[in-house]
Amino acid sequence: MSKKRIAIFISGRGSNMEAIVRQVQDGILKDVCEIALVFSNKPQAKGLEIAKKFGLPVAAIPSKGKSREAFEREVLELLQPYRIDYVVLAGFMRILSPLFIRAYKNRIINIHPADTRLFQGVGGYEWAFENKLPSTKITVHFVDEGVDTGPIIAQREVDLCGADTLEEVERRGLAAEHEFYSQALRKVLTE
Ligand code: GRF
Repeated sequence: MSKKRIAIFISGRGSNMEAIVRQVQDGILKDVCEIALVFSNKPQAKGLEIAKKFGLPVAAIPSKGKSREAFEREVLELLQPYRIDYVVLAGFMRILSPLFIRAYKNRIINIHPADTRLFQGVGGYEWAFENKLPSTKITVHFVDEGVDTGPIIAQREVDLCGADTLEEVERRGLAAEHEFYSQALRKVLTE
C-alpha cells in the first residue's frame, strides 16, 4: 500500500502537529503516511517554526479580512501541486465552508477536545472544567459541513478526577490528544 500524503493545518501552538510528526518520523505512522505540507492561516503561528525545524514544507496564507470562500480558493490552489490525500486539522481555528469540504470530501479529519455529541465549538476543556466533569472524551472525527458534527472515527476517555484547575484539565487532555490522534489517524489511513 502506498503512503498517504497528508497536509496538517494549524493556527497556533502546533503541539498535536508535532506529536504526529514524531509518529510519522519514527512511530506508528511511519509506514502509513508522509507529511506533504504543514499549512497555517496565521503566518506567525508558533507551530510553523516547529515544522521548519523538522525540515517539513510549510506554507501560510492569512485568512484575516477575507471571506471564507476567497481564503479557501487560495488554499485549494496552493494545495493542488502537493497531491494531498488527507487534510488533518490540528488546532486549525477557522471554520471551513462547503467549498473546501466538498473538494476533500470525507478526507478532512479533526481532533476535538470534548465529546462532539455533547459540546461543539471552541473551549472544550473550559466546558469540562466548569461543569466539573469526572471525565471527558477527546473525539477524532471527519469534518462535514457543520461545526464538529461529522462522523466520529474514535474517542478517548480522559479521567479528570482530582483535576482542580483548568491547567490540569488541559494538561491531561493534551497528553491524551498527543497519543490518541496518531492512533486514530492510523486507523483511517490504513482502512
Ligand atoms: C487542541 O486542544 C485541539 O483539540 C483543538 O485545539 C487545540 C490545539 O492545540 N482543536 P495545538 O495547537 O495542537 O497545541
